[in-house]
Amino acid sequence: MSTISIIGAGQVGATLAFLTLERKLGNVILIDYVEGLAKGKALDIMQAGALAGFEKNSIVGTDDYSEIKNSKIVVITAGLPRKPGMSRLDLLKKNSEIVSSVVKEIATYAPESIILVVTNPLDVMTYLAYKKSNFKPNCVLGQAGVLDTARLKYFIAQECKVPPQEISTIILGGHGNSMVPIISKTTVSGKPLVEVLSRETIERVIEKTRSGGAEIVSLLKTGSAYYAPAGATLMMLDAMVKDTNSLLPASAYLNGEYGLKDIYVGVPVRLGKKGVREVVEISLTDKEKEALHKSAAIYRQSIKEIL
Ligand code: APR
Repeated sequence: MSTISIIGAGQVGATLAFLTLERKLGNVILIDYVEGLAKGKALDIMQAGALAGFEKNSIVGTDDYSEIKNSKIVVITAGLPRKPGMSRLDLLKKNSEIVSSVVKEIATYAPESIILVVTNPLDVMTYLAYKKSNFKPNCVLGQAGVLDTARLKYFIAQECKVPPQEISTIILGGHGNSMVPIISKTTVSGKPLVEVLSRETIERVIEKTRSGGAEIVSLLKTGSAYYAPAGATLMMLDAMVKDTNSLLPASAYLNGEYGLKDIYVGVPVRLGKKGVREVVEISLTDKEKEALHKSAAIYRQSIKEIL
């Protein structure tokens, strides 16, 4: 049974812990620096397990990082969420301090693990985790593309009145306003999206996706989305724990792929037990390629501010 550690027992971390146990993906170590928080949430989840039938998998909630030893994967959700009116980049300074301190603990206690970053601004935090851990680039990756793609699928499905499963699409680029929906590869029940919806409707759906997270932040008033972010992270955990080789969008280290070097940004990857097995290069239109480069340039600028 794999051990999966989750750092940050807030909304995303605790929801992910619950889903991981419910899916029987492994045993969970849930860590938070607030005394009692992780322990309390772990107790609650175990008691839910007695009802839901996942009581055989264990969860330990603690503030002691030495418990993460032997973890196969460590997910970082520690950090501040957005407040209404904030962009993900506004979280840069505070969350880079938090992620740096967390990564130090991971490198000490779980040096053989794979780090999966969820904390925002995602692509910058993932690069920071890579630099501070000194892990191999395939062992550090970030969750965002699965979430953004799910949001796009949801909005297209609503517009076309078909189940989301009939939408095939992918979002590349950074997890922010510069995300790059690959419309040239998007189909609805097998038909190209551009033949199903008008240009204006496609633009509207893209805009809704871009502001999908912000819309939830403004409705919640405190905190940001967590069910869909946790569900998206679970999908990536599933691929790595079961070594499925699935093709999913993720923030991954680029070393020349897509014409980009020494940067983390959302691209299609194959995921397995060693993390990123391969960055897959799909054909993009010139406009999509240009948008991907623009997105990477934004994050390069932010990296300069913190490193
Ligand atoms: N070590 C451990 N835990 C920490 C640390 C730290 N150094 N710093 C903060 N935390 C914990 C907080 O105590 C809190 O319980 O991280 C948790 C974050 O939880 P929430 O505030 O509920 O935030 P959440 O909605 O889970 O979002 C976490 O994921 O999607 C992103 O933008 C989001 O960056 C944010 C992150």
